[in-house]
Amino acid sequence: MKDKLKSSTRCVHYGENRKEPYYSVITPIVNSAPYRFSSSKELLDFVTGKSSRTQPEYGRMGNPTVTSVQEKLARLEGGKNALLFASGMCAITTALFVLLKKGDHIVITNDSYRRTRDFVLNFLPKFGIKSTITKSTSSDIKKALRKTTKIIFSESPTNPYLHVLDLKAIADIGKQNNIITIIDSTLATPVNQKPLQYGIDLVIHSATKYLGGHNDLIAGVLIGSDKLVQPIAELLMTIGGICDPNTSYLIERGLKTLDLRVKRHNENGQKVAQFLEKHPKVLKVFYPGLKSHPDHKIAKRQMKGFGGLLSFLLQTDFKGAMKFIDSLTIPQIAPSFGGPESLIEQPALMSFMDIKKKERERIGVFDNLVRLSLGLEDSEDIIEDLKRGLEKL
Ligand SMILES: Cc1ncc(COP(=O)(O)O)c(C=O)c1O
Repeated sequence: MKDKLKSSTRCVHYGENRKEPYYSVITPIVNSAPYRFSSSKELLDFVTGKSSRTQPEYGRMGNPTVTSVQEKLARLEGGKNALLFASGMCAITTALFVLLKKGDHIVITNDSYRRTRDFVLNFLPKFGIKSTITKSTSSDIKKALRKTTKIIFSESPTNPYLHVLDLKAIADIGKQNNIITIIDSTLATPVNQKPLQYGIDLVIHSATKYLGGHNDLIAGVLIGSDKLVQPIAELLMTIGGICDPNTSYLIERGLKTLDLRVKRHNENGQKVAQFLEKHPKVLKVFYPGLKSHPDHKIAKRQMKGFGGLLSFLLQTDFKGAMKFIDSLTIPQIAPSFGGPESLIEQPALMSFMDIKKKERERIGVFDNLVRLSLGLEDSEDIIEDLKRGLEKL
């Protein structure tokens, strides 16, 4: 298929193996765990590399539905190889286990998904792997490097403050110092940003979010060169955290509308951010599409749109923020993002209640911080709902 196609055409057609059986227009879900050989000779040719067959003998090593979705994702990100996992966290942890060894050091940015940070800071040291946590700018990352640094890992945009890293600068730091650069691009999707184009080595997504796109599955994906992805595929086959064919099919189905959906998320994000920024009960809005965001210029240069996730500080306290959220009728109180339904949460309550207030504030999780994931509803309805809620404060 031609490479000059526009984003929405790519989302619908890329990667799909049109040789599927029964003349099916869509990719069939192949639920077989083992895969048969018609004779011992066929098996012998396969195991000695003499046959053109690509399907391995067992589903943990490879599955036609999963392979088809991997191919689509690789092409959408502009990468050579993609691997699906049982979750975004499984993609992150498996990759780090393969790429790091005893004595190595990893630099990770502070404004990133809590479980990723916990894994790096609290679990990797058991294996003799050290880490430095730093602010999400290229100059801070550069300062954090050591002779033993093997990986730079960050989200972009980050979560919940939506910092956008200068991807070219990060990739250059990596290349100059022989360090592998990994970007968790979950918030952006390949519609808004393609980190590999800037020289980043590996891209990770929680496919649970925009890629699946319907709040109905958990999965992860990693995309990059054959050289980096192949050893990770080997460990995945052993660890076994594979994405099953039914979930893979749902991802493929979600990807067909990715371009359409992300454009609506972008539109809703921008409109709601602009509304909130003007409201007297809102102290500050964090959204890279706003001129007031510290990384607006980088985001404008690097991204096609700014996504559907934003956060804001309310002019109130912990209880006031709870009251505001409870008064809303459209966004549901839940974590996650990237689906059709708008979701809202108070990070201090949803994910950080186990941490003392002083420590929470040190990492930027203030009592009056609200994270809003805009779904696919009409922005006018969402704004009307937020307006009613803010008036009650
Ligand atoms: C940016 C980001 N990366 C990774 C993850 C982990 O993904 P999963 O929940 O699919 O394991 C999350 C989960 O919320 C996330 O927000």
